[in-house]
Amino acid sequence: MTTYPVTIKNTELLSEHGFIAGEWVEAHSKKTQPVHNPATQKLIGSIPWMDQRETKLAIESASKVLPHWKGHTALERANMLMNWYRLILANESDLAAILTSENGKPLAEAKGEIAYAASFIRWFAEEGRRIYGRHVPHQKHGTRIMVIQQPIGVTFAITPWNFPAAMVTRKLAPALAAGCPMIVKCSEFTPYTAIALIKLAEQAGFSKANGLAGVIQLLTGDAVAIGKEACTNPIVKKISLTGSTRVGKILMEQSATTLKKLSLELGGNAPFIVFEDADLDKAVAGALICKYRNSGQTCVCANRIFVHKKLYKDFIEKLTAAVSQFKVADGFTPDAQIGPLINDAAFTKVQHHVSDATAHGAQITTGGKPLAHLGKNFYAPTVLSNVSPDALLNTEETFGPVGGIIPFQTEAEVIATANNTPYGLAAYFYSRDVGRVWRVAESIEAGIIGINEGIISYETAPFGGIKESGMGREGATEGIQEYLYTKYLLMGGIDT
Ligand code: SIN
Repeated sequence: MTTYPVTIKNTELLSEHGFIAGEWVEAHSKKTQPVHNPATQKLIGSIPWMDQRETKLAIESASKVLPHWKGHTALERANMLMNWYRLILANESDLAAILTSENGKPLAEAKGEIAYAASFIRWFAEEGRRIYGRHVPHQKHGTRIMVIQQPIGVTFAITPWNFPAAMVTRKLAPALAAGCPMIVKCSEFTPYTAIALIKLAEQAGFSKANGLAGVIQLLTGDAVAIGKEACTNPIVKKISLTGSTRVGKILMEQSATTLKKLSLELGGNAPFIVFEDADLDKAVAGALICKYRNSGQTCVCANRIFVHKKLYKDFIEKLTAAVSQFKVADGFTPDAQIGPLINDAAFTKVQHHVSDATAHGAQITTGGKPLAHLGKNFYAPTVLSNVSPDALLNTEETFGPVGGIIPFQTEAEVIATANNTPYGLAAYFYSRDVGRVWRVAESIEAGIIGINEGIISYETAPFGGIKESGMGREGATEGIQEYLYTKYLLMGGIDT
């Protein structure tokens, strides 16, 4: 029995089981793992600790249903996805409450995530109907060349705790729309949002009763054992991970044995640059949303904030004033803006990055301390000035509500510093000079560039990185291509 801080009205969303071959099941070993609320440390419930055995069963079930699912028309698949989309919106409040309970983000932000999650389903229901082929002018008389696109096969998703709803739908929706069954392994920290979403998918028609057992499946448990089976099993044709660069490299290495297609949305170290011609207030507003949303726990959060010397003092003053006003609280508290960090490890890392920055000469202008009176994972939203290039805050992804500000003098210098990282996911800059806008946008090594904007995530835009931030794109037209392969047909014997 799961226990939440608020009443979940639709009790059909609640389960402590994984979903394999159309059935809600426990682990064969009967092992379970507790799940706690990061704000209160209270137990929410326990999830099955599944391993290689359940992974194999799920892969076999997906393989069985593949011909049936890919045999559906794009319109039939779109209609089912739209049913699911509408059910998610109808259950938005319950889903958001489940999400806040296990992830900690403020309820308003959780609601925003549910809408964001649903948007991928609608978008890919629509995109699935536009999987076009083409006719290519022939090279040889009596022949014709056609290009078609087909579902890649059985697919596998590994999803993180920081967006427990949106990362599930951003992977499931394009796979399903393309005609591919998908098995999801969700984070052990935030399984109940994924369970609730898949309960709704079952109601939307992705069910055993409809002959669609295995089209969507959910595994919870041992990430190492499950991931290894997914990578090495030749039936799985595609894996999509949102997670760390470390895990991405492991999956890539393990997948080499079966040469799988991979989408890897990995770590980032996003630069956020404020040029001397920027609109200062807009830049401060952008930094607030980009750096501090989800307590700084997003892969695309600004990690290094570079401000031109001319605006440096004013920027710090304004950012400090705004950050010190954030309401930090349990996500269920009305008007909460910043919740807890996900767990002890996240909290320790943030604390370590701040003490390392001050040891390297940075000054704390606000925050810089735990908020123990709120609970053990709460850390005060922090601004640090004069952060040294050698500080961990600059070289590693902090994943916390800590903004370190670094002064710069020239465009060339800041671009070189911004690019001096193995990561290349998102980057942001503020400028009103159109020539500079193009120069900088083209010079920064990242897959996503926010220009005078601090939020870059939309279902219609291709999300993904370069360098050690990964490969592949999610969302947009590119997102569905990840689940298709191209087949070229050369037709001979054409007598015209
Ligand atoms: C992520 O942090 O992995 C995703 C962030 C987003 O979609 O905005």
